[in-house]
Amino acid sequence: METHEKGFFTEENSVEVVTGRNKNAKDKRLKAVMEVITRKLHEAVKEIEPTQDEWFEAIVFLTKTGQLSTEWRQEFILLSDILGVSMLVDAINNRKPSGASESTVLGPFHVADAPKLPMGANICLDHKGEDMFVHGRILDTEGRPIANAVLDVWQANEEGFYDVQQKGIQPDFNLRGVFRTGADGKYWIRAVKPKSYSIPDDGTVGKLLNALGRHPCRPAHLHYILKADGFETLTTHIFDPDDFYINSDAVFGVKESLLAAFKRIDDPARAKTYEFDNPFWDVEHDFVLARRPAPQV
Ligand code: BEZ
Ligand code: FE
Repeated sequence: METHEKGFFTEENSVEVVTGRNKNAKDKRLKAVMEVITRKLHEAVKEIEPTQDEWFEAIVFLTKTGQLSTEWRQEFILLSDILGVSMLVDAINNRKPSGASESTVLGPFHVADAPKLPMGANICLDHKGEDMFVHGRILDTEGRPIANAVLDVWQANEEGFYDVQQKGIQPDFNLRGVFRTGADGKYWIRAVKPKSYSIPDDGTVGKLLNALGRHPCRPAHLHYILKADGFETLTTHIFDPDDFYINSDAVFGVKESLLAAFKRIDDPARAKTYEFDNPFWDVEHDFVLARRPAPQV
C-alpha cells in the first residue's frame, strides 16, 4: 500500500480514503475541487442518511435530467438556476466596482445572431402587446457616455414566451435586436411591456419545484448584454418592480438595483411620434459599465 492509500473504507474515514486516492492527480485545480466536493458530499450523506431507495431516486432524477438535455434544452442549467448556483457563480465572477451596474443570469434564450437594428427600431415584429419605449444612457463609472457601446436586448412576448420557444408562431427574431450607441451614449428602443412567465417546468426541475411547494415563475424583465471596447461585458436584466413575482423569482435573478420604473404614459401626441397606441409605457434606465483592468505584464 502506498502512503496515500489510506486503507479500507469506513464510515468514519470515508473522506480521507477517497481524497487520498487522488494524490497523483495531474490537474491540481481538479484535485482541489474534488477534495471540497468529496468532503461536502460525504458530509451531506452522513447528515441525511438516505435509504437505498432514496439514493436510487436521486440517481434516477439526475439520469432523467441528463436525458432531457438537448441542444435546445439544458435541464442541468435550469437545475443550477433554481438551486441559486447560477446566481452564485455569476456573483463571484462579476464583482463590480462601486457605481457599476450589477449583472444577473443570462438564461437559455439568448441568440447570438440577432439582427443589428438602427436606434429607435421596434423589436416587436407582430404588434402584439402593450407598446413600451425603453431608453437611457450607457455610461462609465465617472458618468461619461460610452460611444459605440453595443446593446443586445431580448424579451418574452406578452404571453411569456421567447421567439425561440414558439417557432412558426412568433416571427423569427421577434423581440430581440442589437443596437449601437452614438457619441452621446444614448439608446432608445421600441418594445412591448414584458410579462412574467414560467421557466420550462415540464421536466425534472419542474417536478422538483412542485414537490418543494415552489412556483416556476420569473417576474417580468428585459434581458441585456452590453459590450464596449475597454469595458467589462455586462449581462443583466431590468425588472418591473410591480410584478407579482418580484420577490420570488424562481431563479433568484432579481437585485434591487435592477428594478426600473415602468411608467404608464397617456399622451396621444407622443404616442403618435412612436407609432404607438395611447396610452403606452415608458422605461428609462441607465447602465454603467466597469472599465476592464489593464492586462498584467
Ligand atoms: C430567462 O430569463 O430567460 C431564464 C433564466 C433562467 C432560466 C430560464 C429562463
Ligand atoms: Fe427571461
